[in-house]
Amino acid sequence: MTVHFIGAGPGAPDLLTLRGRDLIAACPVCLYAGSLVPEGVLVHCPAGARIVNTAPLSLDEIIAEISAAHADGKDVARLHSGDLSIWSAMGEQLRRLRVLGIPFTVTPGVPSFSAAAAALEVELTLPGLAQTVVLTRTPGRASAMPEGEKLAAFAATGAVLAIHLSIHLLDRVIGELMPHYGAGCPVAVVWRASWPDQRIVRATLATLDAAVGSEMERTALILVGKTLGSADFDESRLYAADYDRRYRPVGAEPRFPEAS
Ligand SMILES: C[S@@+](CC[C@H](N)C(=O)[O-])C[C@H]1O[C@@H](n2cnc3c(N)ncnc32)[C@H](O)[C@@H]1O
Repeated sequence: MTVHFIGAGPGAPDLLTLRGRDLIAACPVCLYAGSLVPEGVLVHCPAGARIVNTAPLSLDEIIAEISAAHADGKDVARLHSGDLSIWSAMGEQLRRLRVLGIPFTVTPGVPSFSAAAAALEVELTLPGLAQTVVLTRTPGRASAMPEGEKLAAFAATGAVLAIHLSIHLLDRVIGELMPHYGAGCPVAVVWRASWPDQRIVRATLATLDAAVGSEMERTALILVGKTLGSADFDESRLYAADYDRRYRPVGAEPRFPEAS
């Protein structure tokens, strides 16, 4: 018996990986975090599967479900939204399973920041503008931020920020970023990226608050940084005609002649 943790993707059911789909189809038990996991991925569960929405359950109750499946020798598909490596609460479940000696696997999923960038049709890292993306959040009721992980500290680097779980604190986010990025810095908010009701607002730090208005839906990402709005960036050297590289030796004395 194995518990398969599966990143269920950002919303669109066809943004599930093939491996994730096949594991779901092979598991007689499916536990899914119903607050964000798209119900569309549940169509892959086999007929007669036990399907449990864990949104109203405590960690103890979730582990009890897994332990019961373990006792019955039934594999479990454990679905969380997006990818499992960020804000999935997988860590505490893995720790319990290790103690209990229950085997597990982890299958990645498409994270929401990728889906949001795709919706915006942007590359977040552009030469000369930004080469770093910070996946972060503001403190929440359930999760304080470790000392040092301040929005302003990340902003001081000029990196692109993908700010999760924070749309309800938009005023505060704008206030902390403004001194570092300036009023004209491009920003975008993407609600429910890849869902049928996806919504996008593009603005600058100065105009964002008014542009967002009274939107209350919380499943949103705030993306901030120069690469969101500028066509003025360098082309990558990698594909420059005169750039000598292993896969495309150039010139009389290429660095990697053996590849030619
Ligand atoms: C608990 S975190 C889960 C993150 C998830 N594990 C991931 O890989 O993106 C939930 C937050 O992720 C962001 N989020 C998740 N799905 C989203 C989507 N489809 N569109 C925009 N933001 C999303 C929002 O900021 C939301 O508040």
